[in-house]
Amino acid sequence: MTPMTPMTPLWLDRPRLTHPTLTTQATYDVIVVGAGITGLSTALLLARGGRRVAVLEARQVGDGTSGHTTAKVSVLQGTKLSRIARTNPPSVLRDYVTANQEGQAWLRDFCSSHDVPFQDRPAYTYATTRTGELRARAELSVAQLAGLDVTWEDATELPFPVRGALRLADQMQLHPLDLMDALVAQLLAAGGEVFEQTRVTDLHHVPDGVGVTTEHATATAAHVVLATAQPILRRHGFFARLHPQRSYAAALRSPWVPNGMYLSADHPSRSVRSLPSPGAEELLLVGGNGHVTGRTSSEAARVEDLLDWARSTFGGEVTHTWSAQDHATVSGLPYVGPMRPGEEEIWVATGFDKWGFAAAPAAALLLTKRLFAQAGAGERPRWHRAFSAWTPRGAAGAVRAAQFNAGVGVEMTKDVVRRKWRDAEQAEPSLRGICTHLAGAVRWNDAERSWDCPLHGSRFAADGSVLEGPAVCGLRKLD
Ligand SMILES: Cc1cc2nc3c(=O)[nH]c(=O)nc-3n(C[C@H](O)[C@H](O)[C@H](O)COP(=O)(O)OP(=O)(O)OC[C@H]3O[C@@H](n4cnc5c(N)ncnc54)[C@H](O)[C@@H]3O)c2cc1C
Ligand code: FES
Repeated sequence: MTPMTPMTPLWLDRPRLTHPTLTTQATYDVIVVGAGITGLSTALLLARGGRRVAVLEARQVGDGTSGHTTAKVSVLQGTKLSRIARTNPPSVLRDYVTANQEGQAWLRDFCSSHDVPFQDRPAYTYATTRTGELRARAELSVAQLAGLDVTWEDATELPFPVRGALRLADQMQLHPLDLMDALVAQLLAAGGEVFEQTRVTDLHHVPDGVGVTTEHATATAAHVVLATAQPILRRHGFFARLHPQRSYAAALRSPWVPNGMYLSADHPSRSVRSLPSPGAEELLLVGGNGHVTGRTSSEAARVEDLLDWARSTFGGEVTHTWSAQDHATVSGLPYVGPMRPGEEEIWVATGFDKWGFAAAPAAALLLTKRLFAQAGAGERPRWHRAFSAWTPRGAAGAVRAAQFNAGVGVEMTKDVVRRKWRDAEQAEPSLRGICTHLAGAVRWNDAERSWDCPLHGSRFAADGSVLEGPAVCGLRKLD
């Protein structure tokens, strides 16, 4: 099955700025790998602090998850706080909330100072079933415990009955490309550099820091920040601690558009917001139907199910559909810090679990403070425990990660038995279907016409070239 509507993200459907490719040897204080919201905000803060910074982007600014998001900048995040509270003490939960509030405040200030349009909107977690209501009410208690000024509403503006909703006022929504273009402009103005079509294929230690190999050149830096969503390469088994979650979104020209931003507490998840645009019609955005990357019988069926729901619930004409993935951690908290304890040349920021727009700027604030702290300036923010790459929780998480990967093993066994090549006839027939990261059996994604790895979420175009890591090289050709 192929979707009725081609998969084009609304956000990228406009003229885009381009940046040069790194082709000569270069040395920097910090190299940031990945030009999403995490990499760009980190690079900007470092450049403003006087560091010589380059951002190396494998594709084009916005081609990662940050250009395929729904871009709600909210501290109310569905029922995520309940998930964090299940495995973390209340103090860490409060730290997570404070971090997101600081990340959101930084972003709001950045947007206000640099003419990035955004809208102040209330965020809601709504319920339509008894189970959903129990989840939403539990989230209400946890959010109040964490100090959030949330309220319970019996009714909403949604054009269908709800059993109630949790509301947090004064959150934000924006257009992610407006934001990323402004981050790039300010980074360049602060003396930073941005290189596109510059995929990092290897990192190695050199006497003064890290050597970075790209497809066309090498570079060195005292520090490297991997802001590649899933950290690339195989270093320290980091990939085994993250679960890649793919989900779907669509824009509609609809007679109904909301004022607030909504996410269901029920499954399958449903996300709703508007996109106001000066001089143009306001659009309705919907999202949902997530699953572990590479582990569904038909991605196209997921798209069609979301579109059926949107059309029958709100009415209107679909203008864009798209899909993206983000990475969840077993603790529910992001991993931000050195890639290995005590080895402070290579840093990571990942695990935003579909909530990076407030959390990634917070990660950038933390990384910058930690990198400056090494030079004797700056303290860690007080909430840093909630954003830590390595803690005792990490050890507990490793056990659950092993269970997740055991699930992958079962999945792979099934896969070998009934590998789904049925929709692949239009793809390159001469490719080996083995992921170049750690040899997972890739599966055909019938919505996006890509090869997706069910192990750690690498994705490859129909011709075998890499779309998303941790893999850094394309599928091999059959002999
Ligand atoms: C469908 C969906 C909806 C979402 N909606 C929301 C929302 O409403 N609110 C919210 O807060 N969050 C949301 N999120 C999550 C949010 O979008 C992400 O957390 C955030 O965009 C992650 O940003 P990032 O910079 O870490 O990663 P990315 O934006 O993915 O950036 C990583 C970059 O690294 C590059 N890269 C990868 N490998 C290499 C390499 N080897 N060399 C060089 N570059 C490389 C990639 O090309 C990419 O551009 C959503 C996520 C999804 C999937
Ligand atoms: S992503 Fe790790 S094996 Fe494919």
